[in-house]
Amino acid sequence: MNYKNTLTFKAFKKSKYFSLKYINYFPIYDTLLKKFRNKKIIFVEIGVFSGGSLFMWRNFFGKKAKIIGIDLNPDIKRFEKYGFDIILGDQSSNKFWKKFFQKYGKVDVILDDGGHTNHQQITTVNNCVPNVKDGGILITEDVHTSYIRDKWYNPSKYSFINYSKKLIDDINTRYPGIKKQKFSLSKYIYSIQSFESLTVFNINRKLSKINREVRNNKLSTNPKEFRASLNKDSFFFKIKNFFNVKTNFTYLVFLINSLKLRNFFK
Ligand SMILES: C[S@@+](CC[C@H](N)C(=O)[O-])C[C@H]1O[C@@H](n2cnc3c(N)ncnc32)[C@H](O)[C@@H]1O
Repeated sequence: MNYKNTLTFKAFKKSKYFSLKYINYFPIYDTLLKKFRNKKIIFVEIGVFSGGSLFMWRNFFGKKAKIIGIDLNPDIKRFEKYGFDIILGDQSSNKFWKKFFQKYGKVDVILDDGGHTNHQQITTVNNCVPNVKDGGILITEDVHTSYIRDKWYNPSKYSFINYSKKLIDDINTRYPGIKKQKFSLSKYIYSIQSFESLTVFNINRKLSKINREVRNNKLSTNPKEFRASLNKDSFFFKIKNFFNVKTNFTYLVFLINSLKLRNFFK
């Protein structure tokens, strides 16, 4: 979809104040956020700046939505008179978030377009994820800062993107028997979507349960398991046949294949 044809881009163009977004965001916003239009939702944007995106979101979501803007800059109070909830605060403060959610309760959508440092983005995820409703989403914007040295001091082991990869590992601990992580959000985050410059956390506690097997108990043909079979053209198959040994050399095959895979991890 051409970004110019999206509802969010039209809402962005219609805004009376300045805003800066990237063109790839608009089709993603449309796809993820259209289900919330014209509903009584709570939408939170961290980072108000010139106020342009507050009006954009009002144009897009409609009058029923409560639009909350958060920023460190006290000047943003000027937008209160347009019907926005304006909250002064620091997204990297746990105390700030505690007070914020005591006031508003759980919310539908949170968009982080604040300061974009690793610490700000990660603290925001940790505080906001448990406070998003089931079916709601948290979008972290401008995650390219995880790769930029100037100003952001990245790449770093503790970049936001590395944290989002850790959260993918965390989700997979719902598979039975996988070691749980000490710090986990896996009971809230159903899935994570990664787009260029945007990371999306889909929240759903009901769907984030420990997984289990289910069988349909129908007729089995008892098929032979071919998973560990050796390819007839392979070196190990020839050795196995020549020496008439039983082993399938599974660990050796695993090691050699791992060496071949190295190139994909570069
Ligand atoms: C990129 S601008 C927001 C742009 C706006 N969302 C738009 O689309 O027009 C980033 C804003 O985040 C605010 N900000 C920076 N650090 C912050 C922090 N720690 N907590 C809250 N807001 C912060 C800045 O004051 C600035 O207004």
